[in-house]
Amino acid sequence: MPGIAIVGAQWGDEGKGKITDLLAERADAVVRFQGGNNAGHTIVRGGEEFKLHLMPSGILHPGKTCVIGNGVVVDPRVLCDELDELRRRGVAVDEMRISANAHLIMPYHLLLDHAGEARLGQLQIGTTRRGIGPCYADKAARLGIRVQDLLDEKILKKKIAAALEPKRLSLRPFAKDPSLDLYSMTEEYLTYGHRLEPHIRDTASLIWERLDRGENVIFEGAQGTLLDIDHGTYPFVTSSNPVAGAACVGAGVGPRDIQEVWGVAKAYATRVGAGPFPTELHDDVGDRLRTRGGEFGTTTGRARRTGWLDLVALRYAARINSLTALAITKLDVLAGIDPICVGTRYRGSDDATFAQFPYHQSVLHHAVGEYEQLPGFAEEIGECRSEADLPVAAREYLEYIEAFTGVPVALVGVGPGRDQTIWTQASADSALTGAVAA
Ligand code: IMP
Repeated sequence: MPGIAIVGAQWGDEGKGKITDLLAERADAVVRFQGGNNAGHTIVRGGEEFKLHLMPSGILHPGKTCVIGNGVVVDPRVLCDELDELRRRGVAVDEMRISANAHLIMPYHLLLDHAGEARLGQLQIGTTRRGIGPCYADKAARLGIRVQDLLDEKILKKKIAAALEPKRLSLRPFAKDPSLDLYSMTEEYLTYGHRLEPHIRDTASLIWERLDRGENVIFEGAQGTLLDIDHGTYPFVTSSNPVAGAACVGAGVGPRDIQEVWGVAKAYATRVGAGPFPTELHDDVGDRLRTRGGEFGTTTGRARRTGWLDLVALRYAARINSLTALAITKLDVLAGIDPICVGTRYRGSDDATFAQFPYHQSVLHHAVGEYEQLPGFAEEIGECRSEADLPVAAREYLEYIEAFTGVPVALVGVGPGRDQTIWTQASADSALTGAVAA
């Protein structure tokens, strides 16, 4: 084998794109297993910046099989645009494969996402408005349109008509929207079908073949553990499961196909959209993290909320994903902050303290972090390439994270470039990266 899952261990935007891109170099295939174009990865390659939303991060490596799995929701217009743009920039995309069973984001999903948020007013979730929630809702309601439906005009039209029918009431304000016309919608989606046909496959069996041949397959998650619809800060979550367990469902493999689970976490915390964030900062340090860390969304451009590293939540993520390794990104952003705080417990509204991530929404909404203060480091660390190069305080910070979560830190990001990466001793234990550390 092995299969390696890479998941976000916080609220998304942890830098999974860069980590997956680095690990993809040593893998044979990269499979995305959930989410849609609500995700955004920025990958810096040879000074060039690539912003990907749907494409698996391995796409920039020639010769790797990149798969969009059945668990992903696909806006075919966005996918076609992304393929065109990559082709224009000289990236080989012909080998990209998309599951025939993946669900399609339709124009009415986008309208429903906008309308749903508008209706919620002050209670809104702050979705990316890409139609993700309504698409997964249709999947569960068995009204979804799948990628395979694009290849049969009669079926496509019938399914769109059936899916539109129950939405008439909620979509009444958009009744005259031309994008909602059954005939033009069918025509538009047939065109996507023609364009995507060479990429459409039974991707599960393609992945089995690779695993059976002993190749390395990466299962790439989008968003993060705390945005998981079951295990995150519901209802302020996305509509899929970004946790590692979902890699099986969203790619079509079994639990025994996954040997390693890498969790990606920033050295501090960020969140976009509404919802609980116990270690959030509303001060100069928070502003500094946002500015230095470039904390503005890849997908929506929104300024991210910022805060101290939340170790209660990270330990929870370690458990729920059964993490075997941590990749800590953006450690360089903490340079010059002294002391550095880490959230080690929560205090609730009635002064009760919580060592574990609380399951109850009301508790979580009022929880604020209690902190341990750790010494900061003044030096810039963008040039460090080994653990030994790091200032003592930076090393101690990583050791504290390891001790608290019980998960070894295998990789540390010290800047946006691919080379601004430290492979720690722990990376030698990975089947994928053992050779790098050696
Ligand atoms: P949705 O996924 O667009 O429905 O948005 C639901 C919640 O997840 C909102 O708070 C979004 O801001 C958040 N979200 C969705 N995708 C991402 C992501 O890739 N990074 C960070 N937050 C995300």
